[in-house]
Amino acid sequence: MKILITGANGMLAKAVKQELSENELICTDVSDLDITDMDAVRETVNKLKPQYIINCAAYTAVDKAEEQVETARKINKIGPKNLAIAAKEADSILIHISTDYVFGGDKNTNETYEEEEIKNPHTIYGITKLEGEEEIKNNCAKYYIFRTAWLYGEGNNFVRTMLKLGKEKEQVEVVSDQHGSPTYAVDLASIIHQAIKKQIPYGIYHATNQGYTTWYEFTKKIFEIANIECKVVPVTSEQFVRPAKRPKNSKLSKEKLLKENVNIPTYEDALKRYLKQELV
Ligand SMILES: NC(=O)c1ccc[n+]([C@@H]2O[C@H](COP(=O)([O-])OP(=O)(O)OC[C@H]3O[C@@H](n4cnc5c(N)ncnc54)[C@H](OP(=O)(O)O)[C@@H]3O)[C@@H](O)[C@H]2O)c1
Repeated sequence: MKILITGANGMLAKAVKQELSENELICTDVSDLDITDMDAVRETVNKLKPQYIINCAAYTAVDKAEEQVETARKINKIGPKNLAIAAKEADSILIHISTDYVFGGDKNTNETYEEEEIKNPHTIYGITKLEGEEEIKNNCAKYYIFRTAWLYGEGNNFVRTMLKLGKEKEQVEVVSDQHGSPTYAVDLASIIHQAIKKQIPYGIYHATNQGYTTWYEFTKKIFEIANIECKVVPVTSEQFVRPAKRPKNSKLSKEKLLKENVNIPTYEDALKRYLKQELV
């Protein structure tokens, strides 16, 4: 199967390339294919006519986006729009990744978000990612949008940062009022692969690891598994102000994906597998 991957140097893309390595992969980074360039996207997609396009490209600097609004919008909205138009013309299936930030995260943290609930993003990143979703829905019919959250994988990420801090410091302060599901990029890549193999119905799906936690509890779990003796001190979001407001509730319900018999490991299981690799 011929699959075009955009943004192929990113964290998720690395896991996707590994997971789908038995296919004919055409991997492009921004220097090969800038997804904001309509002519280039159209030319590449029409020439290759891939069965699938997996868009791993995005503007992901959540705080910087508050200032770089136009750049974020170009990459997160116009990029997916270009890919959707080109996918439709070439009869390719578009797989796109979105985020928990499309919701405001204001819902009671005892509850979870389902796919079609009202969106109320509070950040430029969330707003532009939601615009990207809308462009895909409006411009092609054969698409999957997988909304993920709290992603970690190859390269710098939250878990690696905490491992480093935990070894260097006696205590770390971590936010305890943001709730969500840490998600291993390898497991998201597997979900994408399963969706392709099972040919699940097109549409939007929530795709994170199973189970819910807070950054504070997650850090304690990281230290427990890695045998690191470092005190974890809970702090509130208000004590840890950042340019872009983080959603307090990022709990995405996976019911829709589970109904398609897609296997989704728990975040604890995922963390153990990741740490096994990371700690050698
Ligand atoms: N990381 C998370 O916690 C998280 C959470 C929820 C959802 N997501 C979503 O998951 C997806 C993958 O995220 P990730 O963490 O793997 O992102 P990432 O590591 O930041 O990778 C994004 C890639 O896109 C490339 N890119 C940027 N502009 C481009 C353009 N115009 N054309 C082509 N490529 C371009 C970047 O290249 P340069 O580095 O050269 O700019 C980078 O290699 C994204 O859609 C993101 O919104 C991520």
